[in-house]
Amino acid sequence: MKFFIDTANLEQIKEASELGILDGVTTNPSLMAKEGITGHDNIIKHYLDICDIVKGDVSAEVISTDFKGIVEEGEKLAALHPNIVVKVPMIKDGIKAISWFTKHGIRTNCTLVFSAGQAILAAKAGATYLSPFIGRVDDISWDGLELIHQISNIYGIQGYETQILAASIRNSLHIVKCAEAGAHVVTCPLSAILGLLKHPLTDIGLEQFLADHRKANASN
Ligand code: G3P
Repeated sequence: MKFFIDTANLEQIKEASELGILDGVTTNPSLMAKEGITGHDNIIKHYLDICDIVKGDVSAEVISTDFKGIVEEGEKLAALHPNIVVKVPMIKDGIKAISWFTKHGIRTNCTLVFSAGQAILAAKAGATYLSPFIGRVDDISWDGLELIHQISNIYGIQGYETQILAASIRNSLHIVKCAEAGAHVVTCPLSAILGLLKHPLTDIGLEQFLADHRKANASN
């Protein structure tokens, strides 16, 4: 399972990248706004800065919602860097645009996915990645992880090549459960990635090892 980081924060992207386990980055307009990245030129520069840090796929989301606008915007984003993947919302013109991008060799990430039916449509259109938002599904008291299981099962039966990119990850347990459910990629906040490191027995064990070493070597 690939690990992407879901942020536009360059420091956090660097920190995750330095762990040596980072395979890519996903952004969206809310995450860009959160970092104060506004204006066309600044947004474009920011995508290039991210591509400089991470040697892996970087999702850049279109703002247009009509076919012509999505295609025009997506072509420009894809031309920025070979690692850019065009992120397109799960709407009618979005699916139409993903089909067009597929025919023209441009890689896509179909975003704002909340159902298996949407996942089937995106795969049929040839999306490279599919982003089911599991945290937001949980937020409305449905089961986000069950959705990943269901899509994984369908994609396996049908032989679809679209990669399931589990998004809206809220904690480290989501990551573990997504791995069990067959997600190809998880895109996570840094806190959820770092949370995987934690176990109280690791801390206690390390403290004991170091204390024993200090005691044994005190007289040397
Ligand atoms: O990748 C999608 C993600 O950014 C949405 O996450 O936490 O806003 O539901 P969240």
